[in-house]
Amino acid sequence: MKERTLAILKPDCLEKKVQGKVIQLIIDAGFAIKGMRLLQLSEDSAKKFYAIHKDRPFYGELVAYMTSGPVVPLCLEKENAVADFRKLIGATNPANADEGTIRKMYADSIERNIVHGSDSPENAKNEIAHFFNDSDLV
Ligand code: CMP
Repeated sequence: MKERTLAILKPDCLEKKVQGKVIQLIIDAGFAIKGMRLLQLSEDSAKKFYAIHKDRPFYGELVAYMTSGPVVPLCLEKENAVADFRKLIGATNPANADEGTIRKMYADSIERNIVHGSDSPENAKNEIAHFFNDSDLV
């Protein structure tokens, strides 16, 4: 059964100008792009998106980083999309990411880690709704 997940190409991805390469890897891995935007997150929107982490020590830095430049949220679809996308991007900390994963290839640190991927189908639904109306999706 097809499943959807939310990806965000983070500010470091666009700063490094590798967004095209990362999107190609996502397509080559079999994900269909159902929605794609280019936007600058406001502080309020970033705080809401990452509210799940609001008590973590890195929350303030995470919000500051995610609002430091434009981002590209993508709604992706395939079978087992949530787990398969996390496999494709690799561990949150690129130092622990497997060879061949997007973070291993392009990320510098746990914060500047190129791309976000939803961690459960339930969170994916909420995260997709943060950026897309149903009518935006193809
Ligand atoms: P992401 O998948 O977007 O979800 C939460 C983000 O917090 C995570 O990627 C990291 O980029 C960021 N982050 C920053 N510091 C830490 C940390 N110490 N532990 C976990 N996540 C962190």
